[in-house]
Amino acid sequence: MAFERVGVVGLGTMGAGIAEVFARAGLRVIGVEADAEALARGRGHLERSTGRAVDRGRLTRERQAEILGRVTLTTSREDLRDADLVIEASPEILRYKVSLFEELDRICKPETVLATNTSSLPVTAIAAATGRPGRVVGMHFFNPAPVMKLVEVVGTVVTAPGVVSGIAELAGRLGKTAVAVGDRAGFVVNRLLLPYLNHAAVLVDQGMAGRDDIDAAMKLGVGLPMGPFTLLDLIGLDTAYEVMGVLFDETRDRRHAPAPLLRELVTAGLLGRKSGRGFYGDEAQEEQRPMSGAVTFDVAGPGSEELAGRLRAAGFKPSDDPGVVLRPTDRPVIEHAVRLQDPSRMVGVHLVGDRVAELAATALTSDAAARAARDLMKVAGLTPVPCKDRAGFVVDALLFPYLNDAVRMYESGYASIDDIDAAMRLGCGYPSGPFEMLESLGLARVRDGLRALYAEHREPSYAPAPLLDQLVTAGLSAFPRG
Ligand SMILES: NC(=O)c1ccc[n+]([C@@H]2O[C@H](COP(=O)([O-])OP(=O)(O)OC[C@H]3O[C@@H](n4cnc5c(N)ncnc54)[C@H](O)[C@@H]3O)[C@@H](O)[C@H]2O)c1
Repeated sequence: MAFERVGVVGLGTMGAGIAEVFARAGLRVIGVEADAEALARGRGHLERSTGRAVDRGRLTRERQAEILGRVTLTTSREDLRDADLVIEASPEILRYKVSLFEELDRICKPETVLATNTSSLPVTAIAAATGRPGRVVGMHFFNPAPVMKLVEVVGTVVTAPGVVSGIAELAGRLGKTAVAVGDRAGFVVNRLLLPYLNHAAVLVDQGMAGRDDIDAAMKLGVGLPMGPFTLLDLIGLDTAYEVMGVLFDETRDRRHAPAPLLRELVTAGLLGRKSGRGFYGDEAQEEQRPMSGAVTFDVAGPGSEELAGRLRAAGFKPSDDPGVVLRPTDRPVIEHAVRLQDPSRMVGVHLVGDRVAELAATALTSDAAARAARDLMKVAGLTPVPCKDRAGFVVDALLFPYLNDAVRMYESGYASIDDIDAAMRLGCGYPSGPFEMLESLGLARVRDGLRALYAEHREPSYAPAPLLDQLVTAGLSAFPRG
């Protein structure tokens, strides 16, 4: 398949970036917009994006002119008749896309491959609207398209042999990494990412932990580029809500039911960055609270040496009459607390990496003990993440189901381990893919954590994926690859 002339329909956020990517790779681009005003906006996107690259010294003026010179802008879709490939990046509404593809099918030569950049709509339904379903695929770029290296190439049950591999090859020519997948809601990245973001919103809604604390835990503790609420604001809460709805419709997994908090914020017009306010955007000046005064503490149980050592290094010594008893644990804290003479003093501690301490308060923990635990962690150089005494606390409760979903995805034959890892690294900027993460955390630890989550919530999809369970039972520490 030779692709030299490429049509891009819709030059909004994604389409303008996609047009730039093709033009940068030396292809001729026909950019189509709905009307003259939108076309001017599209031209503006292209000029600003390449202009920024010039300002930053990443592109010369001559090269910018060359790139822009390869793009022809028009409002006439008939101009797409000779294109080898047309990629559509119009609004995410199925009936728009279907009628657009019917029209493109009529206009374009029979060999033209028609591609959609949809994030969540069924590619099969779009393909079926044309007389060439074998030559219709998904070509899912990530935002911003000129920067993000991943492209998910979506084939359907009716895609003709060679079309997906031809488009994947083209993605390689564009300097992208292609991952070939089937037509399931959310493909790889959104299918794994959005349920995790939705779960974070559910945890806040349930009062499990605060927005800032969850963001800090995932960023500083796990090393993700940003916490879930910062990312939700960036994606747009309306988009996240819609995608969750589509996932739920396909899976009927109640974990995919959009979080009620998302619905409330969207209805209130708090959509995230695009509307100026979402989970963030209305911060009153954070109150600087003084230390709680003299803090006395003790550290109890196995694993307490590390914590005691950190606190000693910060000049604090355990006391015989402690105001707070810190209990390192990854089990329910209440089981330890009830054994104390005064259970209100106990706070569970779970260190995540070397920067974050989850602090689990039980139903009996006093406010004074919870405050003292927070202050102690700060002087020990750790970011405290106060949370409730629930299985997995914050980090494991968010991370392990995501890792389990990845194993189930692989087990179902939808994508390979390497493709899933690459997709999450390149599509989300994660430092490692889910399988790499599973192996570095330890398969047994994740399996046992999932069992604890399942035992507590009785949520079927928290049950460890059979493959994970079997690898642990067989004593293996890595997934079979290749
Ligand atoms: N924004 C993202 O982060 C992102 C990421 C990946 C995929 N996507 C997908 O890309 C697609 C586009 O999203 P977007 O964020 O760029 O939307 P957008 O609203 O920024 O852009 C859509 C563009 O399509 C134009 N358009 C509408 N009808 C048209 C027609 N009949 N002919 C030509 N142009 C038409 C609009 O004028 C607008 O400029 C959606 O399917 C979306 O799900 C978005």
